[in-house]
Amino acid sequence: MMNTEKKLLAPLITGTLELPNRVVMAPMNRRRAFNGVPGVSAPEYFGQRAGAGLIITDNTAVSPNGIGYMGTPGIYNQAQIEGWKRVTSEVHARGGRIFMQLVHAGRIGHYLNNEGQMPLIAPSVVTAEGIIRTPGEVHLPNSEPVEATTADVRRLIDEHIQGAVNAMEAGFDGVEIHGAHGFLPEQFLHPHTNRRRDAYGGSIAARSRFLLEIVEGTVAAIGRERTGIRLSPFVKLNDLPDYTEEAETQQYIVDALQRMGILYIHLSDQGPAGRGKIPEAYIRDLRRRYDGLVVLAGGYTAETAEAALQAGLADLVAFGKPYIANPDLTERFRLDIPLATGDPGTYYQGGDGGYIDYPVHSHTFGANTTADCR
Ligand SMILES: Cc1cc2nc3c(=O)[nH]c(=O)nc-3n(C[C@H](O)[C@H](O)[C@H](O)COP(=O)(O)O)c2cc1C
Repeated sequence: MMNTEKKLLAPLITGTLELPNRVVMAPMNRRRAFNGVPGVSAPEYFGQRAGAGLIITDNTAVSPNGIGYMGTPGIYNQAQIEGWKRVTSEVHARGGRIFMQLVHAGRIGHYLNNEGQMPLIAPSVVTAEGIIRTPGEVHLPNSEPVEATTADVRRLIDEHIQGAVNAMEAGFDGVEIHGAHGFLPEQFLHPHTNRRRDAYGGSIAARSRFLLEIVEGTVAAIGRERTGIRLSPFVKLNDLPDYTEEAETQQYIVDALQRMGILYIHLSDQGPAGRGKIPEAYIRDLRRRYDGLVVLAGGYTAETAEAALQAGLADLVAFGKPYIANPDLTERFRLDIPLATGDPGTYYQGGDGGYIDYPVHSHTFGANTTADCR
């Protein structure tokens, strides 16, 4: 019996988008780009997943030294824009909608992974704990970053805004600014990584300025209806410890985002991964402060996603790992078909294996076979 009454599978109409369902494909850096240009199989990969209400791409670097992880795609030159055009046309031809996640990794990464081996750049010289894959399968500690001058900070903001403009040229329906997971905007928010004394460091307002100027510029350049953001309050990723003003800082940002009227706030919860849970009370408070759409992500199943939607915690729910092995995830939800499990060995590296070769379930009623996706 079909689950057509599920809220998860009900359409959602915004000012610019008609989403056929509330299932979002979460951003996942599959690290298969070369020189920042999405790989030749990327159009097929995303096209296979066009049944999602909304697809969000891999985090995509806005600058040559914003790459972070080897194989991350970019959106700072024409070859990359052309590469992404192939992706957006395929997704649109298959009836889908797709946003690009814009990232600058800041102090996370190794200069050997950056185009031209440019040094890492960050709010302050605070090297991140952790090791990272570099060419030749050599794993090295994150490099020490250089401190951005105030002029650098303005350039980094402009690079994000230009990334959004380039994404629109590449045919995207909008962008998601990566303000989560300890990458550059969060490095500015956090007092551990931001020890600056200029207008971008110190008070909550000053630490938030970098992120908010990116959002403001993006809204001015491509429109608030095409601008989303990912945040991960209380999440501990990429060597960011707890800090006392975290809730206040995040609330300050949410209030500013409300004034700017952006399309959505996407909250990345890492509770299931043991790296920080976002309390329900925080989400309810955010809902009171912010009228736009709320996307929740982190360990959801069809059932828990439905419960979050029914409870009014979210408007959309994003699925990461389930989308890797189930290109037809919404159909499986609709037909109550058990989900396939992906191979973690190919999550972050490899070629077409584990990328475009997961089958879709046969749509034939009563069949228990699978069929290749195109
Ligand atoms: C292979 C892989 C790559 C990921 N890359 C990104 C990324 O580029 N940007 C991001 O914000 N989150 C990234 N994530 C986190 C996911 O978006 C998602 O929040 C997380 O997997 C939890 O959701 P899930 O339990 O449905 O997988 C990645 C996760 C995986 C498994």
